[in-house]
Amino acid sequence: MLDRPNRIAVAAPSLDGGVARPDLVTVEQAKAMSIGDITTAFKEHLNPGQLHFMKLLGFHKVKIESAEGMFYTDQNGRKILDFFGGFGSLAFGHNHRRILEARQKFQDEKRHEIAIAFMSQYAAALAKNIAACSPGDLDMVFLGSSGSEAMEAAVKLAERAAGPKRPKVVYAENSFHGKTKGVLAITDGQLYRADFKLTDNTVRVPFADIDAVESAFKSDPEIGVIVLETIQGGGGIIQASAEYWQKLRALCDKYGVLWVADEVQCGYGRSGRFYAFEHYGVVPDVTALAKSLGAGKAAVGAMIARREVYMKAYGTSKTAMIHAMATFGGMGEACVTAIEGINVLYDEHLIDRAADSGSYLLDRLQALKAKYPKIIKDVRGQGLMIGLEFQDFSQTLPMVLRPVVSMLDDKLKGSLSGFIGALLLRDYDVLVAFTEYNRNVIRLEPPLICERAHVDQFISALDELLGRGIVGIVKGFLESQIG
Ligand SMILES: Cc1ncc(COP(=O)(O)O)c(C=O)c1O
Repeated sequence: MLDRPNRIAVAAPSLDGGVARPDLVTVEQAKAMSIGDITTAFKEHLNPGQLHFMKLLGFHKVKIESAEGMFYTDQNGRKILDFFGGFGSLAFGHNHRRILEARQKFQDEKRHEIAIAFMSQYAAALAKNIAACSPGDLDMVFLGSSGSEAMEAAVKLAERAAGPKRPKVVYAENSFHGKTKGVLAITDGQLYRADFKLTDNTVRVPFADIDAVESAFKSDPEIGVIVLETIQGGGGIIQASAEYWQKLRALCDKYGVLWVADEVQCGYGRSGRFYAFEHYGVVPDVTALAKSLGAGKAAVGAMIARREVYMKAYGTSKTAMIHAMATFGGMGEACVTAIEGINVLYDEHLIDRAADSGSYLLDRLQALKAKYPKIIKDVRGQGLMIGLEFQDFSQTLPMVLRPVVSMLDDKLKGSLSGFIGALLLRDYDVLVAFTEYNRNVIRLEPPLICERAHVDQFISALDELLGRGIVGIVKGFLESQIG
């Protein structure tokens, strides 16, 4: 319990004349914070508006005390099955033993962190590992600390390699590439981008429509780069056909356009291949990884480019520093975490596990779709990147419930996913993820260590919940809002 407000009006000198210590929270106090303390600090210092959504879904009642493997454990000892997986950031689940040990040893040996003074053996080794996992001549690596940073690096590199006469960048409808200022220009969410002045060298095309790409390339010789998620995550787990990707590669070669594949969410084994584009037998010019690359313990992002493209952009001593690693790029412990992670990924055959558990999960969800056709509209995805789309029920809800539901938050109107996500957590101890642009879609991105038994646990929870019917689900949710 924090018994004093965590703030000072003006930094007053201490009695001995030095800088006074502000009223700081210690690590042990942070661990012991009550839900009330966390809520207050969240409201006053982090994001008051976001708290509204936490409350709506009942997430504000949960304090996580520890996490291991597929489960979180909350303040009451309740184990919560993690089918959210940090939007794909937890390939190894929580606190994998080998990852913890590698980090602990690194600390005990007092190894160094900063990679921008001397050549770092850890950054060099991680780059070598990433290149070893990457097909073709995707050999050159830039290390950063987030997906947005990796994608910024990817787009900048491609733009430089394309040259000043080809400054335009094609991106897709419903794309999500991050929220930093550069990649926001190719992120297709009005909520995120509407109020900012973004670069206007962009061309938007529908996703998975090869004719649209071809006519853009044909009609505008200034196009030098195309950026696409291989599987759209924020768009609601949307895939294009193998034919699309093969034609895209051919069109890029024909028109001299560089293809940047965003694999931040779908990459690193999640789809059942290291990169999702490997399902289609094609290789992009530039790609990016993040999320699970840090093995759930470190913030690591990477851009990976074909050597020829990289050399064009930054290959000389004059150009080498234009986009060299930032302060935290290639930090020692983060790299060691990622190096151990990649080793575990192959030692434990987690890419194969993703393919196996993923197809089992898809099959079982298809069976639920057949059982509840009025509730489940579609089930789709690849490996352990799965979208579960519910029917829009704004027209089908009984008249008596409509006025109550219409008073709820906009995000919940007509959308079952909010209700179902909230009740899966409240009544069945299961955590799932929502989707940026399609409020009817729940995203399932559990850790790649997920076994069939975890899938069974998830399916039986969902089956029981859907068995209540739409009215039962909505009523259950409304009760939770009152209670
Ligand atoms: C496909 C894709 N690209 C980029 C990003 C941005 O990653 P980050 O949140 O680490 O900046 C995300 C994040 O969800 C993503 O899904």
